[in-house]
Amino acid sequence: MKVLVATEKPFAKAAIDGIRSIVEGAGFELALLEKYTDVNEFYKAVADADALIVRSDKVTKEVVEHAKNLKIVVRAGAGFDNLDLAACTEHKIVAMNTPGQNSNAVAELAASMMVFMFRNQFTPGTGAELKGKKLGIHAYGNVGRNVARVAKGFGMEVYAFDAFCPKEAIEKDGVKAVGSVEELYSTCNVVSLHIPATKETIESINYDLLNRMPKGALLVNTARKEVIHEADMVRMLNDRPDFKYITDIRPANHDDLTQFGTRYFATPKKMGAETAEANINAGLAAANQIVDFIKNGVTKFQVNK
Ligand code: 3PG
Repeated sequence: MKVLVATEKPFAKAAIDGIRSIVEGAGFELALLEKYTDVNEFYKAVADADALIVRSDKVTKEVVEHAKNLKIVVRAGAGFDNLDLAACTEHKIVAMNTPGQNSNAVAELAASMMVFMFRNQFTPGTGAELKGKKLGIHAYGNVGRNVARVAKGFGMEVYAFDAFCPKEAIEKDGVKAVGSVEELYSTCNVVSLHIPATKETIESINYDLLNRMPKGALLVNTARKEVIHEADMVRMLNDRPDFKYITDIRPANHDDLTQFGTRYFATPKKMGAETAEANINAGLAAANQIVDFIKNGVTKFQVNK
């Protein structure tokens, strides 16, 4: 039984050591394809793999077609928009994610991005404090909950909107649940995005929504670039000299946004889950889920049911 770890952005060594100990401890073989630059390397490596662990690596129809023995793929992380679920299902491959395992890392980055932008990207001049500001959490899942916890430490007033999470489950955390996404944006000085990229959410963060935000507003995106309407973001930054945008996922139109100076920032490479802790949590969870599936048929985190 061969388990392949294929990661263009590699895990920390401690995570690989832990994955190896779980995989080999179960009597399986571990193969590594790290920092690959050509998809053909991925096609070749996956050809005889029974199980696959990836991060944001795209598991396309072509990858699946090269993987004749593949039974399970686990995305070590939360978002599984990089997996072609239809192709997995067609080839009877179980697809899973590891929800919650990297959420604290992403939440800490989101909070630090707020400080960075409120302090003018650490350039000289007068900034602002988070204390007393209204934070809107757009989607109250594992990351959103952690952002709420951290933001309360800063003394922020925390609001959330989540179409799929009952109001009581939000309010028990001392977070105010609002009734609509429009209300969230109209109310909050800062909005932190935690929605997945789906056909419903792609380009849903548009001018009409953003322009509801109060003066001096900030949007923090540690979710996916696809949820932003990119042309509308340029229009928003042009029309509203008080508005700021920071993202952990470099937009396709990054070059059009750099003109906005300290009102715009994108990390050079997505780093939300880039901590040793998150790598270890998600990597080991992925390895354990594979062993549990192969040995015991457990499909708890299957996303293509
Ligand atoms: C996730 O969906 O879990 C995050 O976006 C992390 O992605 P990464 O594994 O590419 O860092």
